[in-house]
Amino acid sequence: MTNTAFAPSTKPLYGRILFKISGEALMGPNEFGLDPETVDRIARDIKDVVDAGIQVCVTVGAGNIFRGVSGAANGMDRTTADHMGMLGIVINALALQNALENIDVDSRVQSAIRMDEICEPYIRRRAMRHMDKGRVVIFAAGTGNPYFTSDTAATLRASEMNCDLIAKGTKVNGIYTADPMKDKNATKYDTISYMDVLTKDLRVMDATAISLARENNIPIMVFSIREKQNFVKVLHGEGDYTIVKD
Ligand code: GTP
Repeated sequence: MTNTAFAPSTKPLYGRILFKISGEALMGPNEFGLDPETVDRIARDIKDVVDAGIQVCVTVGAGNIFRGVSGAANGMDRTTADHMGMLGIVINALALQNALENIDVDSRVQSAIRMDEICEPYIRRRAMRHMDKGRVVIFAAGTGNPYFTSDTAATLRASEMNCDLIAKGTKVNGIYTADPMKDKNATKYDTISYMDVLTKDLRVMDATAISLARENNIPIMVFSIREKQNFVKVLHGEGDYTIVKD
């Protein structure tokens, strides 16, 4: 290994967090599906966070497998398309659990849609107990309802789990005034209010998710998941990120 491991000199800023990761982030360099190397690297990033003493739960998207919205746009019934998206999340959740187990991180998958032969059903108190024991809980199948995004599922579960933070791992290192991939003059916010995210239409998460986070006063941290060990760093207040809060 060439990189020096991050050795925090301070305590983490958060006790319990929800990590939101998009399905696309699990594709790595591919255009579809799961890239085992990328999933393994993200599992190692999660391990660093668990080792720092932070309780972690995770929600995943399914854009690497199936997007309900695009299915509906192509003439499919929206509810059916969303059900397919939720099953895509279960696939991603099982892949992430497998990668965590390979590096000896205890984890449990809880699904919003019952599939008892495959994983546990979602039970709030049980999920909290798992986290108290240092296990990573991966919430699968979104909210279990069509018409809700995985971002909304993330905010809902973070609220139910009394998380101190929603950590959203993305391709970029924060929220910019414009898309930094397209506009060279775009500047990054260090902090921004929930209301500004909504009124400026910055598309960090959908409006339902942002409103729910605002109502429950849970900050949202946007950071880059592409850099190794960046996840644990930002949770110690180091590196680049943007925080959405009031
Ligand atoms: P503790 O009660 O804290 O010891 O938690 P635990 O999760 O280790 O206990 P439990 O005996 O409930 O679970 C043992 C294993 O079975 C874990 O890997 C769970 O994820 C799994 N498990 C528990 N309930 C279900 C279920 O309804 N369906 C499936 N597929 N697996 C389950």
